[in-house]
Amino acid sequence: MPDPTRRTITRPRRPHRKPSAALAAALSTLLLGAAVQVAAPPASAAEPHVDNPFADASFYVNPDYARLVEGSIGKTTDAALKSKMEQVKNAPTAVWLDRIAAIHGSDANGGRKSLADHLDLALAQKKPGRPLVASFVVYDLPGRDCAALASNGELPLTYKGLARYKAEYIDEIAKVFARPKYRDIRITTVIEPDGLPNLVTNLSDPECARAKSSGIQVAATRYALNKLHAIRNVYTYMDAGHSGWLGWDTNLAQTAELYTDVVQGTKAGLRSVDGLITNVSNYTPLTEPFLPDPDKTVGGNMIKSGTFYGWNPNFDESDFTKALHTALVAKGWPASTGMAVDTSRNGWGGSARPTAEGTSTVLDTYVSQSKVDRRTHRGLWCNVDGAGLGRLPQAVPADSPDSHLDAFLWVKPPGESDGASKDIPNDEGKRPDPMCDPDHTAPGAGGNPTGAMPDAPLAGHWFHDQFSMLVRNAHPAVPTDGP
Ligand code: GLC
Repeated sequence: MPDPTRRTITRPRRPHRKPSAALAAALSTLLLGAAVQVAAPPASAAEPHVDNPFADASFYVNPDYARLVEGSIGKTTDAALKSKMEQVKNAPTAVWLDRIAAIHGSDANGGRKSLADHLDLALAQKKPGRPLVASFVVYDLPGRDCAALASNGELPLTYKGLARYKAEYIDEIAKVFARPKYRDIRITTVIEPDGLPNLVTNLSDPECARAKSSGIQVAATRYALNKLHAIRNVYTYMDAGHSGWLGWDTNLAQTAELYTDVVQGTKAGLRSVDGLITNVSNYTPLTEPFLPDPDKTVGGNMIKSGTFYGWNPNFDESDFTKALHTALVAKGWPASTGMAVDTSRNGWGGSARPTAEGTSTVLDTYVSQSKVDRRTHRGLWCNVDGAGLGRLPQAVPADSPDSHLDAFLWVKPPGESDGASKDIPNDEGKRPDPMCDPDHTAPGAGGNPTGAMPDAPLAGHWFHDQFSMLVRNAHPAVPTDGP
């Protein structure tokens, strides 16, 4: 049974009120790279390692994702929804290297492209004189997803599993990244979603406790950082859960402690890491626009003391990234450490979205009237019903300057399932997870129903109904007449 604290704790996100025209323009700039004309560097000059790899760069668009969206477009009759889907089709999403076969592509990878295919395509998409950034998720930890079942992986939590992780996974990825022909691509990596976060809070789960006490997952993480940091055009962003998970003061302190310890144990120490990324595959808002002050009192009680936040003062990812950055810098991390947020599914638009602060004087009622995160508990993480696309991928967002944001990214490709509740035979190590069952009430999530959409496919597989919902509930809304 997964410990609910795991992905439990919410991730706040907030509404962005950009008008559609601005959104369309932003998408156009992002995708077409039309905005900046910079003098081309000499063809032979390798790019330096920069502070923020997303700055001034165009983003790689994954044709595998576009193909999946095409499938949904073909099934959709509503013309307005269809044209929104057309625009989402070319959004840049991260490529998940979620098993060894994903490096090599082909049949073993569900017909998806190999890592080298992606990098060749990225080269082809690169405009002369403009940097291009392509993002990959490193996600094959031995004993993966230790606090849940939906994304258990192919490598067991054993020393043999660790040896395979090094030799067949990380070394192979590093070999491809290091090919000279790719040296002008800024390659960003998201390191092991949920990996270290599980070792912060989920040690009551025997599998996670073993993952930590054996040293296997820490060794794997350090190995990945050592190998990837050594390649000049590769950038490392460590997954750091989300505000609804690691946002409590004690969790945040332990997070800073563990991450510092792990990274100090790498060859380059704290310089191995370019940044941290939060909210990967979760639904926590970027901001809670109607709940800016966790200490404000309603009916005599502070908002953060209500049932939904349970004394966690970090309601959203803007606050959490800021708090995390502060905590890490206090431990000696460089102030240049960047933050990124996965905004793929944290939009929470649609008719259930509040448009104003609540008016009740009963705290829990007030919170539920005010919050844009429509979940009943912040620990619910599987195919959450009612969610919508969030902010488009964007470099250097001007929002919340104290959060040191390098970028908003779409790490979880919206429309790919979080997991299934039924036993679907597969060779990926994935198992049925009660958190994905709409009829399950989750003890770790306050005894609330999971809020999961029914009939979901395996984690990572295309879920048309979910994709349609996410597009419909996007916030900001996807324009129907964009580029
Ligand atoms: C899940 C799956 C993984 C997939 C990823 C992105 O974590 O386990 O296979 O690639 O989501 O959809």
